[in-house]
Amino acid sequence: MKRDILSVLDMKEDFEDLIGLSLKLKRSRYEEVSSAKNRVLAMIFEKPSTRTRVSFESAMRQIGGHSLYLNPNDMQLGRGETISDTAKVLSRMVDVIAYRAFEHTKMMELARNATIPVINALDDSEHPVQMLADFMTLYEKFGNLKGLNLTYVGDGNNVANSLLYASALTGVNIRVATPEGYEPKKEYVSKATELASRYGSSVEILNDPLKAAKGADAVYTDVWISMGEENQRQEKEKLFIKYQVNEKLMAQASDRAVFLHCLPAHRNLEVTPGVIDGVRSVVFDEAENRLHTEKALLVRLLSLQ
Ligand code: CP
Ligand code: NVA
Repeated sequence: MKRDILSVLDMKEDFEDLIGLSLKLKRSRYEEVSSAKNRVLAMIFEKPSTRTRVSFESAMRQIGGHSLYLNPNDMQLGRGETISDTAKVLSRMVDVIAYRAFEHTKMMELARNATIPVINALDDSEHPVQMLADFMTLYEKFGNLKGLNLTYVGDGNNVANSLLYASALTGVNIRVATPEGYEPKKEYVSKATELASRYGSSVEILNDPLKAAKGADAVYTDVWISMGEENQRQEKEKLFIKYQVNEKLMAQASDRAVFLHCLPAHRNLEVTPGVIDGVRSVVFDEAENRLHTEKALLVRLLSLQ
């Protein structure tokens, strides 16, 4: 059976279960898994990547499979072959596809035309696989998820959208603070609010970063300029400086608060060196957990095939 992971909501039924599997696989790092043996993962990356690429590649290798890194410019895709033909061809040759795309519409088109699972490795709408690593890290630090208070400060982007969904699904109370006009889109906020009320947590969207950080158990930020937005650098950097995660902002958070960032990070822009390199930062655990969570996801999808 083909199962696509295009949004956090595609893991609605088993998000926490996947974290449990990731914790187990973290303890048996080099153990092969029979469902992965000789299976092949194709990874199409329209944008750069360090963590997503390396974690998927290492994960697939460690569980006994193989992976292919495909740059669209080296494929016929770059010369006008359609996404749908590409999906159909790859479906005849490999077992699962991870796709990092500029546009979510292309992600959906690939998934619609592939007969094998498609994993969203980031697009303009969400970054679902990042969430497994983030919430696994929170679970490791606190021993539970339900009832935690997570504050995201910065741009209402793909990562913020996925954080809204993942928080709502796990009973984490989420506050998002962005400059005016950069809030996450209404569709994500209302869906997350609806889910949060079902799972017993809250969603708040604010413009005041200090207020948002008050009492937080975890403070999360991401780049202000996402890949593909380089032409917005000047206006955004000026506007977002008030949303920097610095020592003053962290002082608002709870005594046990941790700092998260999906990385790559820009020191002295969205976060100060004192915070990201300080004792509360768990960003490298978070990065490592990309490996264990990617592995869990691959095992889960391949065992259905
Ligand atoms: N966090 C993340 O997805 O990093 P990469 O862009 O390096 O894959
Ligand atoms: N919001 C960032 C995340 C990078 C992992 C981007 O889309 O570039």
